Amino acid sequence: MKAHVGVVGLAVMGQNLALNIARNGYAVAVYNRTAERTKQFVEERVKGEKIIPSFDVQSFVESVERPRKIILMVKAGSPVDEMIEELLPYLDKDDLIIDAGNSHYGDTNRRLEELSHRGILFLGMGVSGGEYGALHGPSIMPGGTLEAYKMIQDVLTKIAAKTEDGPCCTYVGNGSAGHFVKMVHNGIEYSIMQAISEVYDVMRKILKMNSVEIGEVFEEWNKSELASFLVEITYKIMKHIDEETKKPLVELILDKAEQKGTGKWTAQTALDLGVPTPSLNVAVFARTISHFKEQRKELSRIFGEKKRVHAEQRLIEDLKKSLHFSMFLSFSQGLWLIHEASNVYNYNVDLLEVLRIWKGGCIIRAKLLDLLRSILRENPQNVNLLASETTIQFVKEKLPSALKVNSIARESGVPTPVLSNSIDYLLSLTEENLPANLIQAQRDFFGAHTFERTDKQGTFHVEWQELE
Ligand code: 6PG
Repeated sequence: MKAHVGVVGLAVMGQNLALNIARNGYAVAVYNRTAERTKQFVEERVKGEKIIPSFDVQSFVESVERPRKIILMVKAGSPVDEMIEELLPYLDKDDLIIDAGNSHYGDTNRRLEELSHRGILFLGMGVSGGEYGALHGPSIMPGGTLEAYKMIQDVLTKIAAKTEDGPCCTYVGNGSAGHFVKMVHNGIEYSIMQAISEVYDVMRKILKMNSVEIGEVFEEWNKSELASFLVEITYKIMKHIDEETKKPLVELILDKAEQKGTGKWTAQTALDLGVPTPSLNVAVFARTISHFKEQRKELSRIFGEKKRVHAEQRLIEDLKKSLHFSMFLSFSQGLWLIHEASNVYNYNVDLLEVLRIWKGGCIIRAKLLDLLRSILRENPQNVNLLASETTIQFVKEKLPSALKVNSIARESGVPTPVLSNSIDYLLSLTEENLPANLIQAQRDFFGAHTFERTDKQGTFHVEWQELE
């Protein structure tokens, strides 16, 4: 028996994806660089599923039916290139390699180009949902040629998470579209995680709530329009008690946030493409700043304790609206970035489809996505979702709370970069006159960079002062 698909890389994500595919009725060939891991996987986790293990690359490739479909679940970066090089001598024309890791879209473009010269098809595929999702149904974002997607479409749609709007998998677009969309997914993920953490910070520092009480609030919110995977895990985290100390574990975790790069790439790409994604960008900086633990400790001692203002418990309702507001604007920024990239790189991404496949399986799945989809459906040109009557109503209802939280947090010295940058993003984009006129004048003053005028056409320069 030959396998229908091959999976390379048997870390937990790879194992789970292989099992998910096999449980959907396909025979799966598996291979891992270290044979020990493969043996262990087969012994401990395979229970009657059609899994065909191999211990060298050649036998692995030969155990997959032609044209081959091989999914790479290896660490992003050079391991992907190394694995492709190892596979190539045994592959035949029109075989398909699918990179399911969090690869940078630039690498995906390069691999697509290189492999096309060798007659090998390639898909760059975003997969979201962590270990659980890989096993029970992730959100899948494949990009490349439609021809390549068609070869694996049946498997992907079967293993994907399902919602009332269908399987959370779609052909995202040309070239590196799949990895690009996954990268932005993670940018939004960073922003929402940070916004939730800021709300938590206000609750504990200003409202003086303990972790379990905070958990109860998030649990309630998860039954409302804020329902989302990230709010859900937050309440579960808050309520988790450390066996050893009997304290909420979250209080014992060191406040240094790690990152593997996708959020940073989103921020960098937004800067390169000239799309404003301030909430997403500051969420990355928030993680960076958190790393300076020693310095923060020292400076907090020098600067002294911050005076927290008093706030009523009613602030919880404002926090809820403020979080909802930031979540909405994080999606607004992310979608705008995808749209711009789609134009620049000819991805041809359907944003409505992206929102649909983010409804289930992925880390940023949220009830809010239904609202976003209805706004975009009204006017598909409204790519940042702002120009809509529904958005105006939403903002009317949430902005006063966001402003109140912002002001109390500021007065109390609690940093809320995502909550406050989301406000500035909205206020700036809804402002006809920004002070950029002064920036232009300053640039012209010191650098003769010229400016345009509002009262006549053309490019102007003024000698702002006589040179001595
Ligand atoms: C997902 C996650 C997943 C992973 C990130 C975390 O969608 O399933 O985004 O891809 O958890 O790599 O990224 P950081 O380590 O950068 O926080």
